[in-house]
Amino acid sequence: MPDQTRRPSPGLPGGEQAGLDTGHAHSARVYNYWLGGKDNYAADREAAEQAIAANPGIVTDVRANRALLARVVRYLAAECGIRQFLDVGTGLPTVDNTHEVAQRAAPDCRIVYVDNDPVVLTHARALLTSRPEGRTAYIEADLRDTSTILAAAAETLDFGQPVALMLLIILHLIPDADDPYGIVATLMRAMPGGSYLVLAHPASDIRAASMAEMTRRVNERMRGPQATMRDRAAITRFFDGLDLLEPGVVQPQQWRPETGTLSPAQVTAWCGVARKR
Ligand SMILES: C[S@@+](CC[C@H](N)C(=O)[O-])C[C@H]1O[C@@H](n2cnc3c(N)ncnc32)[C@H](O)[C@@H]1O
Repeated sequence: MPDQTRRPSPGLPGGEQAGLDTGHAHSARVYNYWLGGKDNYAADREAAEQAIAANPGIVTDVRANRALLARVVRYLAAECGIRQFLDVGTGLPTVDNTHEVAQRAAPDCRIVYVDNDPVVLTHARALLTSRPEGRTAYIEADLRDTSTILAAAAETLDFGQPVALMLLIILHLIPDADDPYGIVATLMRAMPGGSYLVLAHPASDIRAASMAEMTRRVNERMRGPQATMRDRAAITRFFDGLDLLEPGVVQPQQWRPETGTLSPAQVTAWCGVARKR
């Protein structure tokens, strides 16, 4: 069983508390619907269908993002010697979660998952179980609450050794007013040299009209922070001060593709992997 650390996040910017609200769509559950999962409610399904109607490519896009996650984790564990992962915005468990891919490459990997959705927490308890050689832990916390995340993660991860910070399809849920760049910089400051930042972010500048309409429809149906799509330049700024690995900031299907992996022509996101010196 994974370690469970339940951390309420008092005084979050914006004032909202994590809590189960099935009357509004939630990003984790809308995403789960797009991935073909069953862990969603009527409000999530309605928002997800509205989004598909505006941007039919979204279903392929989320699958391409999951394929990216698996390629990057495999690369970091198998080729870069990374044994520790801090995955913020876990999402509902699906196939090839971070710990499964990492521990397949190196069974002693330690993975800390962080999410602020109580439904994710319930499923994580049952499904995010570690191999005996490694460890998994789950923290219920908000990405904006960096001090809670770092303190709780330190119970499982050794911040004297390199860590891969994974921020996949989550930073669009942090509006500019909540300083997403500062949040990423604070987390990376806590990591030693040789650590990595892995980031994927929905794009405002690919299929721009469809993305804008999709965002509008989903935002109308979600409670809490509205989604902010960003363009390639704004997403590249998250990597400031780090060494971007080849091929740089690209669409997920373009990041070190492997034979047989999903390669749609266009994916409405930008991603990159960078190393801290
Ligand atoms: C779209 S899913 C992405 C899941 C996974 N990272 C992936 O790329 O497949 C976004 C996840 O981030 C979580 N999330 C959204 N805002 C968050 C926040 N402020 N703090 C922590 N988790 C958050 C949601 O609950 C959801 O599980």
